[in-house]
Amino acid sequence: MNQYDLKGQIAVITGAARGIGYAAAERLLASGAFVAIWDVDRQVAEKAAAMLGNTDRVFAVGVDISVWEQVEQATAETTDKFDGIDILVNNAGIAGPNMPVWEFPIDTWRQIVDIDLNGVFLCCRSVVPVMLRKKTGRIVNVASVAGKEGNPNAAAYSAAKAGVIGLTKSLAKELAHTDIRVNALTPATAETDILKQLSVEQIDYMRSRIPIGRLGTTEENAAMIAFMCSPDCSFTTGAVFDTSGGRCTY
Ligand SMILES: NC(=O)c1ccc[n+]([C@@H]2O[C@H](COP(=O)([O-])OP(=O)(O)OC[C@H]3O[C@@H](n4cnc5c(N)ncnc54)[C@H](O)[C@@H]3O)[C@@H](O)[C@H]2O)c1
Repeated sequence: MNQYDLKGQIAVITGAARGIGYAAAERLLASGAFVAIWDVDRQVAEKAAAMLGNTDRVFAVGVDISVWEQVEQATAETTDKFDGIDILVNNAGIAGPNMPVWEFPIDTWRQIVDIDLNGVFLCCRSVVPVMLRKKTGRIVNVASVAGKEGNPNAAAYSAAKAGVIGLTKSLAKELAHTDIRVNALTPATAETDILKQLSVEQIDYMRSRIPIGRLGTTEENAAMIAFMCSPDCSFTTGAVFDTSGGRCTY
């Protein structure tokens, strides 16, 4: 596993109790960072922190990223524990059910946008002021190829992820005069628990769109995230990094 010099850097990774976020936590810890796992599933987050093993460099915070008061509380808990935040990986997300727009339940649409887009905004809204104290930091927003292409029968998810890409570009420009870099990642389908929310037909459709001919892995996404969090990612901001197995070549 390649490592970057993240010694002493304090990272928040949302949704890191499992999947891509957990793999990113492993990577950042291996590079010397401190990691706060922010996840709505506190029990699994605590188990994940224990599995990661670095008890003095990792801790779990129970937080629903779509609720402002909880996000503010999580920021306060993290800065009390670790004294600052240098890296924010906005990774938590849900996929939601597969159905066409004209049948989509209104409440479910709102819930997906609330977590997948508004949650990213709330975490940036809360953490950027902490980063601005040192005028340095790295923000990675995990979007999706769905946000670039629009997956059929997943309009809420696709729209929210397109919104994350737009938010990334705006925030990057707002912070470009500092050393805070803001970039998005657009994975294609990767083998994680999120697939349990999808129909078999939807997963088959998404796999068929990947020229490399297989699903991505959590490690492949984590490797890209680690670079995006590193000091080496210094002259790139507002960009969209691809882990789509050739599906999106733009
Ligand atoms: N796996 C894929 O195929 C794929 C493809 C493209 C993009 N993504 C994106 O990657 C990110 C990670 O996905 P994953 O596949 O690892 O999913 P996952 O379901 O394995 O993990 C997501 C984590 O987010 C947490 N979470 C959900 N809602 C939350 C909330 N409101 N507040 C805090 N935490 C919450 C869950 O508890 C879970 O631990 C998501 O944003 C997802 O949209 C995944």
